[in-house]
Amino acid sequence: EMMREITGISEMEHSLKKLLGVNKVVIVPGDSDETPLVKEEIGKATAEILSSCLGKENIIAVTGGTTMACTAEMLSSDIGEGRKLLFVPARGGIGEDVKNQANVICATMAEKTGGIHRVLYVPDEVGLEVYHSLLKEPAITEVLDMIKSANIVIHGIGDALTMAGRRRTNKTVMKKIIEENAVGEAFGYYFNENGEIVHKVPTIGMQISDLEDKPIVIAAAGGKSKAKAIRAYMKGAPKTTILITDEGAASEFLKGH
Ligand code: G3H
Repeated sequence: EMMREITGISEMEHSLKKLLGVNKVVIVPGDSDETPLVKEEIGKATAEILSSCLGKENIIAVTGGTTMACTAEMLSSDIGEGRKLLFVPARGGIGEDVKNQANVICATMAEKTGGIHRVLYVPDEVGLEVYHSLLKEPAITEVLDMIKSANIVIHGIGDALTMAGRRRTNKTVMKKIIEENAVGEAFGYYFNENGEIVHKVPTIGMQISDLEDKPIVIAAAGGKSKAKAIRAYMKGAPKTTILITDEGAASEFLKGH
């Protein structure tokens, strides 16, 4: 705590919290763009926040991405003691590599905490016909109901172009994302600088509007390169959101404020 005072981290947290109008901001020292270890620290801080938010019975909706993968690695069995933890992927496949997929991350989270998880079996790209019949599958509707009733959401925020590139987005969509000046991404939604949705990856599961009635929302994203993305996403994000970020993103963000 002392170190945080000296380095001005507490002050930054306070300024950022005011600027974004959110519930709580946690900043870890360093810049995860430059130092991979810092992303692990974000994961650790996110795991701690998550554990402080847990009640007796919890349904936790989780997105994909490397920051969520880091968070999963930092969870341990003590947070699951005396509690029921159910991890569900927030949305269906959105083109990520397996290790960054919400399904896999949920499985790791359950394994680390002694909780359980569910898998949402939705391929990234299916025709409309298959898509509609999938929605009639009990194995899928059951998970969709769980996602609906999740009381905690934890998610990453990405830079729009980085995410679109990583997801091997097709040319037409790529063009749209560029033309509409998307800067941020979360849950498979792409946002412009005003926080407006300019593209949405078509898949099932949580919709951004579902966030509003979630009592606990935890967002984790760091690195100087994500400052714009975080700002854009946060414009429309629920004010109850707890943001875990790093000094790299925070100092870029606070420039000129
Ligand atoms: O869904 C992915 C997130 O938006 C960002 O992913 O944590 O790997 O940057 P990341």
